[in-house]
Amino acid sequence: MKNKSVFVCQGCGTKSPKWMGRCPACGEWNTMVEEAEVEEAPLVEQAFAPAEPIPYQDVKNLAKPRARVEIKEVDAVLGGGVVLGSLVLIGGEPGIGKSTLLLQMSRDFAAGRTPVLYVSGEESLDQIKLRGERLGVGGGPLFLLAETNLERILAQAEKLRPGVLVLDSVQTVFSSKLSSSPGTISQVREVANQVFRFAKRNGVPAFLIGHITKEGSLAGPKSLEHIVDVVLLFEGERDHSHRVLRALKNRFGPVSELAIFEMTAAGLEAIPDPSAFFLRERPKNESGSVVVATIKGTRPLLIEIQSLVSPTLFASNPRRMTVGLDHYRTSMLLAVIERKLGYTFGTEDIYLNAAGGMEIGEPAADLGVVLGIVSCLMNRPVPAGLAVFGEVGLSGEIRSVGQAAARVREAAALGFGTILLPEGNVAGLAKEKIDGVRLLGAGTLRRAVDLVF
Ligand code: TYD
Ligand code: MG
Repeated sequence: MKNKSVFVCQGCGTKSPKWMGRCPACGEWNTMVEEAEVEEAPLVEQAFAPAEPIPYQDVKNLAKPRARVEIKEVDAVLGGGVVLGSLVLIGGEPGIGKSTLLLQMSRDFAAGRTPVLYVSGEESLDQIKLRGERLGVGGGPLFLLAETNLERILAQAEKLRPGVLVLDSVQTVFSSKLSSSPGTISQVREVANQVFRFAKRNGVPAFLIGHITKEGSLAGPKSLEHIVDVVLLFEGERDHSHRVLRALKNRFGPVSELAIFEMTAAGLEAIPDPSAFFLRERPKNESGSVVVATIKGTRPLLIEIQSLVSPTLFASNPRRMTVGLDHYRTSMLLAVIERKLGYTFGTEDIYLNAAGGMEIGEPAADLGVVLGIVSCLMNRPVPAGLAVFGEVGLSGEIRSVGQAAARVREAAALGFGTILLPEGNVAGLAKEKIDGVRLLGAGTLRRAVDLVF
C-alpha cells in the first residue's frame, strides 16, 4: 500500500492534498501540517455489541452512577460528580495549573481508596513527586506512569484497572497506529477516541488534559469537543492569582456552573466566597465604581464595574473600550444615556472594566454600567453600601431579571445595605424574608439616577 500524505489544518481539521498558506475552511494562516493519510476510524468502532432498536418505554430510566469529587467546587462544575465511564477534557493554557488540579483530584480519589492511574507524557516521575509533596499527596492507591505511547498506556490501564484514569496531556501521547507526530490533529483525535472507548468499556472516568494557546486552540482541544463527554476550561490571567474552572460542554449536566480557585504555594485553593474575593480591592468613594449582583452559573456573584470618562484626543472618533463586558450592549447603553438622560459625551473617551478579569455576559449588569458612567459624568461616587442589578431597555425603562432573590441575598450577605433593582422585581421579593437590606425599586433610568445621586 502506498503511503499517501495529506495536509491537515491543525485548527479545524480540514484536509487538502497540497500545502496552503491559509486554511480555506477556517481562514487561519500557517496551520496546514503534512500528515500521513489514515482511514478515519468511526467513533465507537465495535466498542459495544451491535445495537438493536428498543421501544422507548423499555429504556431503563437509570441515573448515571457518578464518583464524587472531593473538591466540592469541581464536583459542582461536573454536575455533581464525574459520571463513571465518561471522558472529561480539561483545557487551558500551559502553566495555568491543569496538572496541579488533576494531581489534587487524584490525591483525594486515592485517599478515598479509589485507585488512580496518573499518566504523564510531560513530566518525569520525580517532577510529579515534587509537585505531589507540595500538594500533600498522602497514602492511598495513586499510581504514576511516565509514558507517551498510548497502546502501552492502555495496556497498563487494562492490567491495573484503576477507578480513575488521568492522561497528562493529550498532545504528548501518541498512538503507534498512526505515523503522524504527537500533538497533530489526527493523533490527538486518535488518542481521545481510544481513551473514550477504554472509559466506556471499563466504566472508568477518564480525564484528558489538553493545552490551549491564548489565541484559541492550536492542535486539538477544539477538535476534541465533539468526541469527549465533558469539556472543562481552566482559565486565568497571568497577573491574577485566581483561576476559573467552568464547563463548556457537559453531556451529563448543566454547563453554567463555575468554580474559582486561587493558586497558592500549596496548590489550588477553592474560593468559597467569590464575591468577597472579587470585591476585596474595591476603591472607597471613587466615582465610576459600581457593584452589580450578577449570576454566574447558578450562583450569584458580586462584581465591581469600573467606568472612566475622560476627554478624548480623537475628536472625530472618541474611544469606547470595554473589558469583560459586551461591547455592542455597551454602545447601546451609551445611546440610551444620551437620549434618555440627556448627557452628551461626543468628546469623551469611555472605558469600562469588569474588575478582577471577570466576564459579565448578562443584561442584568446594564444598570451598573449606566450608573457607573453617570457617576463619572457627575463626578460623584455611588454610595459605598449600594449594589445594583437590572436590564435597561431602549426607552430607558428598567426591566426585571431572573433570580432576583439570590442576587439580593448575596448582596445582603456581603453587607450591602441598599439594593437598587427593577421595580418589577420588588413585588416578587416581598414574600422572601431577606433581613437587613433596603430595596429601592426603579422603573426607569431617570428614577434610578434620582434615587442614587
Ligand atoms: P501546572 O499545574 O504545572 O500547570 P499546567 O499543567 O496547566 O501547565 O502549574 C503551573 C504553575 O503553578 C507553575 O507556574 C507553578 C504554580 N504552582 C504553584 O504556585 N503552587 C503549587 O503548589 C503548584 C504545584 C504549582
Ligand atoms: Mg502540566
